[in-house]
Amino acid sequence: MQRFTLPRDLYHGEGALEALKTFEGKKAVICTGGGSMKRGGFLQKVEDYLHEAGMETKLIEGIEPDPSVTTVMNGAQVMLDFEPDWIVAIGGGSPIDAAKAMWIKYEYPEITFEEMCKVFGIPKLRQKAHFCAISSTSGTATEVTAFSIITDYEKGIKYPIADFEITPDVAIVDPALAETMPVKLVAHTGMDAMTHAIEAYVSTANCEYTDPLAIHAIELIMNNLVKSYNGDMASRHTMHDAQCLAGQAFSNALLGIVHSMAHKTGAIFADYGAHIIHGAANAMYLPKVIAFNAKDETAKKRYGVIADYMHLGGSNDDEKVELLIKYLRQMNDDLNIPHSINHYGANGLPAEVGFVPEEVFLERVEDIAANAILDACTGSNPRQPSQEEMVKLLKCCYYDTEVDF
Ligand SMILES: [Fe+2]
Repeated sequence: MQRFTLPRDLYHGEGALEALKTFEGKKAVICTGGGSMKRGGFLQKVEDYLHEAGMETKLIEGIEPDPSVTTVMNGAQVMLDFEPDWIVAIGGGSPIDAAKAMWIKYEYPEITFEEMCKVFGIPKLRQKAHFCAISSTSGTATEVTAFSIITDYEKGIKYPIADFEITPDVAIVDPALAETMPVKLVAHTGMDAMTHAIEAYVSTANCEYTDPLAIHAIELIMNNLVKSYNGDMASRHTMHDAQCLAGQAFSNALLGIVHSMAHKTGAIFADYGAHIIHGAANAMYLPKVIAFNAKDETAKKRYGVIADYMHLGGSNDDEKVELLIKYLRQMNDDLNIPHSINHYGANGLPAEVGFVPEEVFLERVEDIAANAILDACTGSNPRQPSQEEMVKLLKCCYYDTEVDF
């Protein structure tokens, strides 16, 4: 038996934000990030629409990128004091992910962060509040997924919380919110979405229900991401839907080791002044992981199907895999994303010398590999890497060398 879970309601298209006017409840807590939603006037609209629906509102503002365990615990305390029956999270992946974790802690104040991270181990939510997610970036698709990524800064590790309990009740996918994204964010979040769709399609948990969502997302992203990056607003709108379709696929088909590696490299070099941004990490690692996974016959065939849908040519699966890798690398070039960690600048752009020194990488690579293998996304990868293989793979991602194992 397999389970396929999505939000009960998905409001999409221009004006979707107005769906908030129809919500029923007494109190809503609104969770948001650094201020772009406020500057764009969207936060005010959310408040106005909820007031119009007869609700009292309270704001949890300033949720940081890559939200911490502390942020989650503090936000949950605000909820415990205010007692909302709706949690409305608006912004990029970070405020929505943080709000999901706050929701768990609000419903179960005794729960520890370690207990939250037990995969598919969250107790029944919705005893106190329902959850609405409104995404402003086009990538994480957290508005429709069963996942939340929280960073433990003491350990320097990003932990995924995974359970269909935290799949939002309502998702609002209004393209107007994505219009103001800076182009670097368009690039990174867009390649995150591409990675979601491709990893979901070759995941061992893929099924007839997830395949069409993944394939259609790949086609839409291929045809719209670079255009959106170059300022085409119709493509920007399409990308907002495309990333949501990719999210619907991966929330149910799960992901693979591109994400395991991105999770475990993201914050581990923070002491050298930067994070490897999630989407950029995925964009760099995806071609390497495709080469690694394609040694598995089933995965190779499925990459071939993806290449066919993308009309990349190639007369056999080996050629198709090669063409797929080439195409994705070209997308990285078009989006100004580096190909490897040694050229990843502290600002996320290609640099002659990256911010992660070689000796530091080599010192930490064994631990990163061990953690990546333990990541929740590794289990559904089509090929299970050994410690030695994971180390080699990470080195290929550092030096941009060919994966031939
Ligand atoms: Fe992702």
